[in-house]
Amino acid sequence: MSSYHPAIELPAPDPQQIAHSSRLIECIIQHIEAAGGVISFRDYMQYCLYEPGLGYYAAGATKFGAAGDFVTAPEVSALFGQTLANHLRDLFSQGVAPQMLEFGAGTGKLCVDIIQRLNALGVDWLAYSILETSSDLQQRQQTLLEQQLSSADLQKVSWLSGLPQAFNGVVLGNEVLDAMPVNILLKDKDWLELGVAYRDQQFVWQPYSSDSAAVQQMRQIDADQQLPDQYCTELNLNYQPWCKSLAEVCHQAVLLLVDYGYLQPQYYHPQRYTGTLVCFYQHRVHPDPLIYPGLQDVTAFVDFDAFADAALETGFRIVGLFTQAEFLIANGLLELLPAAADAMQQITFSQQVKSLTLPGEMGEKFKVIELHKGLDLS
Ligand SMILES: C[S@@+](CC[C@H](N)C(=O)[O-])C[C@H]1O[C@@H](n2cnc3c(N)ncnc32)[C@H](O)[C@@H]1O
Repeated sequence: MSSYHPAIELPAPDPQQIAHSSRLIECIIQHIEAAGGVISFRDYMQYCLYEPGLGYYAAGATKFGAAGDFVTAPEVSALFGQTLANHLRDLFSQGVAPQMLEFGAGTGKLCVDIIQRLNALGVDWLAYSILETSSDLQQRQQTLLEQQLSSADLQKVSWLSGLPQAFNGVVLGNEVLDAMPVNILLKDKDWLELGVAYRDQQFVWQPYSSDSAAVQQMRQIDADQQLPDQYCTELNLNYQPWCKSLAEVCHQAVLLLVDYGYLQPQYYHPQRYTGTLVCFYQHRVHPDPLIYPGLQDVTAFVDFDAFADAALETGFRIVGLFTQAEFLIANGLLELLPAAADAMQQITFSQQVKSLTLPGEMGEKFKVIELHKGLDLS
């Protein structure tokens, strides 16, 4: 993977951002020195996104929406959360406990849209818990919810710093799996894992291991996929522990996750030889995670086959994998368009529907996976 030169195409960070990034760079250099000169990319990504007080998601920069770096479906339109709420209503009417647990709630917009729609549908929901690791995002969510929800609703919302002891209901996550740190693997005749070192005032790629758990797993995948030499890709080793810890607390639960990703034949397509890792900085997408530490989002597509295997192994049952367009249309997206809206509003709504459902936008790249545990619904 070559280094990328931001001066050509990316906006320059301002002095405050540079100072912030420099503090994170110092911190990562210390981790690299303590590790003997190189760390796994997974650790590097973990520090870049989640280092307390410094990482991209842990610190205070605006991330979501026009003033941030990227736009997620709840930010595109309230119709997204409203349509999810339609599906929740159907699940609750079949006996699923009427409470939600949302992972990584962003601005809190999805929570607001779901609660308002459930109220409009007359659903008597019990509780909405948010598991948010970033205290900055938690504060932003609290502010939005206080502005948008009644005090009766607010009393039923709580923030968790870890999984509850037990949970029955619906677990939700939009674009959470893609934000988990990944390992990077390169086939150089045999597989090796790439790590990150620091030389000449910059982070650089360096071989990290030729027999790590990630390398061994990649060899197994390659036995099926037969990938070409010099193929570079990612592995997300978090799926299994994440599903396992969730399975341990979920007794009768639905897991509903939305994210961009592929099944393995597409994920490991020979033409995808530089992998799926991308970075977002001020609405520019680029492939170099070694620049702008702490200032940009770093993300990798979801391998839905690997995720489904992890979920099955840990006791979930797979109910379906749908494109976002299929899921939203099947759950009443188009019927939600307000008939009374004026012409300008109609244009706005139709643009939002296009963003959420067209194949070239979020419609096909994004998938919805639904899994059940301890439930036998028709
Ligand atoms: C791309 S943002 C998506 C935010 C929001 N769901 C949305 O759609 O606008 C990814 C979020 O996932 C959170 N996240 C990643 N791994 C997580 C985990 N293991 N537990 C809880 N949150 C996590 C991050 O902190 C971040 O807030």
